[in-house]
Amino acid sequence: MRNVYLALVFVCVLLVSIFGFRGTKFTSPPIEVFPEWAFPGMKLQPKLRPQAESKFFADGRADRAPVEHTVMRGMLREDDHLNRGKDATGAFARGFPAGVTVDLKFIERGQDRYTIYCLPCHGMVGDGNVSIEDRWAVVAYVRALQRAQQGSAADVTDAAAKQTLGLK
Ligand code: HEC
Repeated sequence: MRNVYLALVFVCVLLVSIFGFRGTKFTSPPIEVFPEWAFPGMKLQPKLRPQAESKFFADGRADRAPVEHTVMRGMLREDDHLNRGKDATGAFARGFPAGVTVDLKFIERGQDRYTIYCLPCHGMVGDGNVSIEDRWAVVAYVRALQRAQQGSAADVTDAAAKQTLGLK
């Protein structure tokens, strides 16, 4: 009988150890069987994570700004017509850039984007025929957007907001 109990306990321990904590997320660091200080390896490496703090650099940031007048490999946007809509003289280019094929699929893609981004203000057929109230609501919002770009400390009148922003 005793053996049956022992076997039962063994089976329980086995089941818990195999299935018990599956999917559980532990927040504390794992137990180190071979601690780094005793068995140096490459488990812990001095490195800086993106957007982390660094005492090494004067500005306190781990990230380094790209060297001025350099472009990341593969990120050079040489084609002015495609990227800026300008020609070699810097004037607005005419027609579509060479790499662009205007076919039905391309236009449908444009329709899709227009419907998402432009239709609410410019209307279904681009005549701006949305409801009269909505038009004025849009005007109000566009004015607010313009204003938001030109805000200054003088615009903050709320006392609590002033304090939060460190204004006197
Ligand atoms: C928040 C509303 C809003 C959205 C969204 C919007 N527009 Fe406009 N758009 C306006 C307003 C308002 C004007 C008029 C601005 C003015 O005349 O000062 C305008 C003007 C224009 C003009 C100039 C029209 C002319 O006759 O001179 C073009 C072109 C245009 N929008 C294209 C677009 C496109 C393309 C999109 C989508 C990618 C878009 N707009 C999204 C509100 C909007």
